[in-house]
Amino acid sequence: MKVAIITGASAGLGREFLRAMPKAYPDIEEYWLVARRREKLVEAAKDVPRQCRIFPLDLTKDESYEKFAEVLEREKPEVWMLVNNSGCGFLGNVGEGELDRQVQMVDLNLKGLTAMTHLVIPYMPSGSHIINVSSIASFCPNARMTVYSATKSYVTAFTFGIGEELKQKGVTATAVCPGPMDTAFIDIGGIKGHSKTFDVLPYCDPKKVAEGALAAAGKGRSVYTPKAFYKFYRFVAKIAPTKWMMKASKT
Ligand SMILES: NC(=O)c1ccc[n+]([C@@H]2O[C@H](COP(=O)([O-])OP(=O)(O)OC[C@H]3O[C@@H](n4cnc5c(N)ncnc54)[C@H](OP(=O)(O)O)[C@@H]3O)[C@@H](O)[C@H]2O)c1
Repeated sequence: MKVAIITGASAGLGREFLRAMPKAYPDIEEYWLVARRREKLVEAAKDVPRQCRIFPLDLTKDESYEKFAEVLEREKPEVWMLVNNSGCGFLGNVGEGELDRQVQMVDLNLKGLTAMTHLVIPYMPSGSHIINVSSIASFCPNARMTVYSATKSYVTAFTFGIGEELKQKGVTATAVCPGPMDTAFIDIGGIKGHSKTFDVLPYCDPKKVAEGALAAAGKGRSVYTPKAFYKFYRFVAKIAPTKWMMKASKT
């Protein structure tokens, strides 16, 4: 059974990944959808004319990895696509506001993504793909979203690292680095109306991001940045002093 696993398939970009995948990868027979809200995953499953399995798991919790590992061990799926998309980002300085929020970003964006990748790789055959959803926030530290941008720097670096490790196995890894998208992320993170940078930056269309990322994964690209504007930003961030970049990119 050829399987695709999508985390955060219940909303936003993850749901667009699910919608776009049957056209981009018609051989995939079953989708395994992971997120906390079961009812939203059930609703999302109706978007695709394929068999879907629902996994209502909180990827910040260790017991979720144990449960998912048991299913993998029992079912031994052939995972042709793993999309690590679940993520969250909260605006606010470190040392202010709730500790929970800062820790949640680390637990989900970093620990959850690492655990899922580690568990799923043994089930990925040659020719399969991993997509890790990172962000333009990974290009340089973003004050006021310090933890978020640090977690996304990890995601991009992690993706490059596993891409190298998996070359021999024939599995590719692609870091996807979108700019802002008009999804629940912006509201949940307390960003809407509270960040001048987010107010002026060009927004990415999640449907186009998902389609572009799936195409980039198929070509074995290690990083996919949508929009010429953000490709340029990535280039500048590589050559300009971090101090300058941080001034320009403060959220
Ligand atoms: N929107 C942006 O501006 C933007 C820009 C760059 C990168 N990104 C990245 O894009 C990815 C998708 O975000 P989005 O914009 O589509 O936001 P979203 O609409 O809020 O979707 C986030 C997804 O993550 C899932 N999720 C949240 N907490 C979870 C947990 N503890 N365990 C498992 N799943 C969890 C949510 O499902 P449940 O609530 O059902 O668990 C939801 O499906 C994230 O990695 C984000 O960092 C977003």
